[in-house]
Amino acid sequence: MSPREPLRPVLYDDGRDLVRLLDQRKLPGEESWLELSAADAVADAIKTLAVRGAPAIGVAAAYGVAVEARRGAGPAQLRRVAAMLEKARPTAVNLAWAVRRISARLEAGPDALLAEAHAIRDEDEAACRKMGALGAPLLARGATVLTHCNAGALATAGYGTALGVVRAAHEAGNPVRVLAGETRPFFQGARLTAWELHRDGIPVTVLTDGMAGWLMQRGEIQCVVVGADRIARNGDVANKIGTYGLAVLAAYHRLPFYVAAPWSTVDLETATGADIPIEERPSDEVVLIGTQRIAPQGVLARYPAFDVTPAALVTALITERGLVRPVGAEALAALSG
Ligand code: MRU
Repeated sequence: MSPREPLRPVLYDDGRDLVRLLDQRKLPGEESWLELSAADAVADAIKTLAVRGAPAIGVAAAYGVAVEARRGAGPAQLRRVAAMLEKARPTAVNLAWAVRRISARLEAGPDALLAEAHAIRDEDEAACRKMGALGAPLLARGATVLTHCNAGALATAGYGTALGVVRAAHEAGNPVRVLAGETRPFFQGARLTAWELHRDGIPVTVLTDGMAGWLMQRGEIQCVVVGADRIARNGDVANKIGTYGLAVLAAYHRLPFYVAAPWSTVDLETATGADIPIEERPSDEVVLIGTQRIAPQGVLARYPAFDVTPAALVTALITERGLVRPVGAEALAALSG
């Protein structure tokens, strides 16, 4: 991949019938692609975070169904495959949304299923570009923007949600700078956000997760822009663990807190944030860095992978259908069409 070529982490090789995933576990040290010919391998890539980020796992799962169809699976087998993929991770609703969308076409045949998966991919990238166009004007000239986890091209079909807003501002000539929380425990900020912004020539500095409050107090941050894994009907936002703390800090310091997410992240069937299932990941992902143990043998760690930010702390939602401000059930219902 040459620098500045658009970054698209989930692809499908139509000629060889392979799902191609940029292996995000190996970044930033190594750019290597997985080539997968079966849905269970795609599910495993989702579970182990080779592909991660709410929209990206939805696209990967859709290709997981398509690859099985193209390799000869019939509707009954595809239904089992779809159910297995949908369960791979619980919090990001884009996964279930994409699997259900492609599952509605299981009888249509392999070519139609692949076309549907391509459409899910293309529409996600287009949504990200639209969110970028709508969100970029919210960033003051030369603003320092704090983001969390990776809500960039790597987390989507391409361009990114939160980082799509930053990219669009940068492309429009706004000299924005980004502070990327390292995002303990899995370092998506330090490894992935820093990598993709640096690759695109957008100034980025990594912070440990505990530094944001102090920098806000010193006036060194102008706004926060994050992505989302699921937005409930009342506007509550589930996103990577640590997001809620940043929202509280932003409110205390009277800084705008923006959430950028495609409509596929909005789950009108889930009433409030309290109803969103929160994934718990294994203790070892906290107490090990690579293979190095950082806590005493015998001590366990908690790892809720996401938290919920109440709608009241979100200044605006940036979706491809428009800005939602103030955030709440009424405004979301109005956009739901
Ligand atoms: O556990 P991850 O890396 O899949 O979590 C991803 C996030 O929480 C992102 O911030 C979120 O999915 C938004 S992605 C556009």
